[in-house]
Amino acid sequence: MDKLVIRGGKRLEGTIPVSGAKNAALTLIPCALLTEEPMTLRNLPRLADIDGFQHLMGQFGVSVSIQGQRSEDFGRVVTYEASRMTSTVAPYDLVRKMRASILVLGPMLARAGEATVSMPGGCAIGNRPIDLHLKALEAFGATIELAQGYVRAIAPDGGLPGGEFDFPVVSVGATENALMAAVLANGTSRLFNAAREPEIVDLCNLLVAMGAEIEGIGTSDLIIHGAKRLNGATYKVMPDRIEAGSYACAAAITGGEVRLEGAKAGDMAATNHALRNIGVEVEEDAKGITVRADGPLRPANLTTAPYPGLATDMQAQLMALLCKAQGTSVLKETIFENRYMHVPELGRMGANITTEGRTAIVTGVDELHGAEVMATDLRASMSLVIAGLAAEGETTVRRLYHLDRGYERLEEKLQLVGADIERIGDG
Ligand code: EPZ
Repeated sequence: MDKLVIRGGKRLEGTIPVSGAKNAALTLIPCALLTEEPMTLRNLPRLADIDGFQHLMGQFGVSVSIQGQRSEDFGRVVTYEASRMTSTVAPYDLVRKMRASILVLGPMLARAGEATVSMPGGCAIGNRPIDLHLKALEAFGATIELAQGYVRAIAPDGGLPGGEFDFPVVSVGATENALMAAVLANGTSRLFNAAREPEIVDLCNLLVAMGAEIEGIGTSDLIIHGAKRLNGATYKVMPDRIEAGSYACAAAITGGEVRLEGAKAGDMAATNHALRNIGVEVEEDAKGITVRADGPLRPANLTTAPYPGLATDMQAQLMALLCKAQGTSVLKETIFENRYMHVPELGRMGANITTEGRTAIVTGVDELHGAEVMATDLRASMSLVIAGLAAEGETTVRRLYHLDRGYERLEEKLQLVGADIERIGDG
């Protein structure tokens, strides 16, 4: 298995191109199921999870054609065509590898009148239930059956009537599944307390480009007027706000100055606010953001929350940065029940962190020390890379398959700004 070897202490300087957003792409790809016409996505990041989703789409008989691109290019243009479906089943051996597969449930149900998807297991950060996905689809008129570890959703003859659902908990994935089911319903549907993440706005924008009628885009109250059919579209995936925030933390912990080309400041306001509180300069312009940290890092108290609050996906990376702040910080993780797996690994690098339930107390240290560490989940692995860039000595990060799920060509991007980092295959 590959590993990353990082020799810390280099000040990062230069420009990093920001890729298309993984968490937008994973909900945009299944939209191809909603039409018989070709749907083309541009700026698709080249990530393991995207490849996995494309393999799953092939399972249903969807044709996937990747337009040529030069090897040095970041991102891809891919056309999906679901003119004929050969299966409505998402099997266990594919779903267990990528839980976002559950996002085929809504669009498959809307298109084919039925869908059978293996229940996604939990994962390192929590048990990740899908009860809200199922309740929303039932509210829109679907019948849901659970058997042998599979979810089977069935629409009445003639299709889903549509309906109303008020989310008791904000859920990104459940909002996405509900939206993709409602756009082909026979009537009007309403969602209350829907997620407002930029990735949801990206999904709504693609659906509207395909001919859907959605009101309240960007708010927590969505009204969807069902359409008889949707057409194909060509759409550019939004820039990845979590990738951009992750590299901003990497630049800051090395006291560097890095431009994040393509980052959309408006999508990451809470992250930029947190960075400024920590003493990091963040300059915003129409084409990206520039991050500069030439002074001491200050402690901060941070609490994750649904958008527009601070993204839970930024917690581990900001924690790594705060390990070098001059003082004590308090972090509260309100979204997932087990999202501190990076803490013991950061501790092995000399960080001083204690956790109590969903609260972590980070006392800044003068030095972090390189060590052999292990990635446990996607964002935890990025926090170890960030710490390694500032640690004295050499850090080796193993189990890179976690990292490769969410960061396109990470070591190449960090090498662009002077990091001493290399990927070594066990060959
Ligand atoms: C999406 O996961 C993202 N994944 C996650 O990013 C992100 O952390 C999360 O949203 C929150 O922003 C993708 O978009 C592919 P949720 P999702 O449903 O949709 C509970 C990353 O690192 N809940 O908003 O699964 C759930 O347990 C990944 O890129 C229910 O109780 O998140 C959690 O506590 C990690 N029942 C909370 O809601 C449900 O039916 C938020 O989950 C669904 C969720």
